[in-house]
Amino acid sequence: MTRSETLGGRISHFAYTRSASNGCRSDMAPPTRLPYDVARVRIVFAAAEVAPYAKVGGLADVAGSLPQALAALGHDVAVYMPLHGSIDRAKFGIPDGGATRSVPYGRSTIKVSYPSLVRDRVRTIFVRNDQRIGRAKVYGAPDDAKRYAAFARAVAEDLAQARVRPDIVHAHDWHSALLVAMVAGPYRRKLGGAATVFTIHNLAYQGHSKADILDLAGLPKRRLKVEAAGQLNPMARAIAAADIVSTVSERYAEEILTPEFGAGLHALLGERKADLWGIVNGIDTDVFDPATDRHIPARYSAADPRGKVNDKAALQKELGLAINARTPLFGVIGRLVEQKGIDILTPVAPEILRTGAQIAVLGTGEPAYEAIWKELAAKHPGTLSLTLGFDAALAQRIYAGADMFLMPSRFEPCGLGQLISFRYGTVPVVRSVGGLADTVRDADADPRRGTGFSFGDYTSDALLDAVRRGLHAYRDEPRWAALVERVMKLDHSWAASARRYVEMYEAARVARRAA
Ligand code: GLC
Repeated sequence: MTRSETLGGRISHFAYTRSASNGCRSDMAPPTRLPYDVARVRIVFAAAEVAPYAKVGGLADVAGSLPQALAALGHDVAVYMPLHGSIDRAKFGIPDGGATRSVPYGRSTIKVSYPSLVRDRVRTIFVRNDQRIGRAKVYGAPDDAKRYAAFARAVAEDLAQARVRPDIVHAHDWHSALLVAMVAGPYRRKLGGAATVFTIHNLAYQGHSKADILDLAGLPKRRLKVEAAGQLNPMARAIAAADIVSTVSERYAEEILTPEFGAGLHALLGERKADLWGIVNGIDTDVFDPATDRHIPARYSAADPRGKVNDKAALQKELGLAINARTPLFGVIGRLVEQKGIDILTPVAPEILRTGAQIAVLGTGEPAYEAIWKELAAKHPGTLSLTLGFDAALAQRIYAGADMFLMPSRFEPCGLGQLISFRYGTVPVVRSVGGLADTVRDADADPRRGTGFSFGDYTSDALLDAVRRGLHAYRDEPRWAALVERVMKLDHSWAASARRYVEMYEAARVARRAA
């Protein structure tokens, strides 16, 4: 019997409603009191990708770990995501059943089911309709705009019919942006005053599509200033409608108010400036912990970092690089696209190798860059390794085995790679932009508190200069050991940021009540 049946046809997806037969773990009992003095908030997340079920980029990490941090603070959190075809239902124990609803979609209705499960106090609800919503890949189907509109509508309907009303509906990126417009519009009355929060993880993807999607979504046609006739910009709609808009670092929150970083929405964001928050991401410090990581051959910690050198040797061996503890090894993990600075890194990669360093790359990206990097790897056997694809376990071995981590991003809302690197004692070399600027302090500018090497101009020369400074520090063994120890001791767990989210939710509720 599923949770929804125990509630007599009315659904509550909130984790704290107890039921003996819903597969909840026994540690699911609600905390008796909150760790600090705020009321328990009922929060509903909606996101396209949520780790560990489906992951393309950093959004999945945040949507997977922030809810757990909020639940640990005593709040009720449920997360909606589409049941993508790629999700391994057997592996995660996702049930077949779940409540079924008839969801209005344009002039007809679609049948949607909502299987769910609980992990670490958070209920994840998989929105299932294989024909309209489920596709093999998270992104990239020709009907992405339509299926994410259907996803948003299915979430809104489920919330409207559920017994427990959320206080906060928190949508992430363009894929769930129309949910904000729904909750702030046609579903407002049914949802009894839920406040809305919209978080921008990446302004570069706005979900541009045709305005007829609005009919399917049941939303009014009135156009925003930034929308051309006949066009729909889901991200802009959420920015305009949400009680609070946020993004994933303070610096990026400032940057997106400028034409350079605003991706055409800086004026609209400027109108929402008073309600725009920047909260830096945390990482899941249980998953990313070299002291317990099962994916790395040797475990280590800030107190006893000796294992790192073994991880480096094992990585060099695994990737066909010359095995040498004193050869500096740079890691690059992520999409090989211009956002990540691949256009300034590519021309200087041979020069970095000429210094005697090695580079290990893991990622996929624009075919043109994949081709160039394949050629580079062929030309530099033993010093440049390229793995095209995504492999979470290999990523962890690179974080552990590398000495430095390269992130020369053109723009970076937050960036998680530098935070994970810190944890593994791998020193980041970054462009000082967005979340990278907020989290990495240059070790030459500030020798006592520095945590990496950073540069400002978006040029290959500036990048190369920071790399050279990193290599210089690397050759100074005592200085390097102190730097490694310092970065490993940094705390980028969710604890502090999750509290900021709770404050933001309070602000959203105040704004809603005032409206
Ligand atoms: C996007 C951004 C990245 C951020 C992540 C999670 O992937 O590009 O900077 O860390 O979302 O918020």
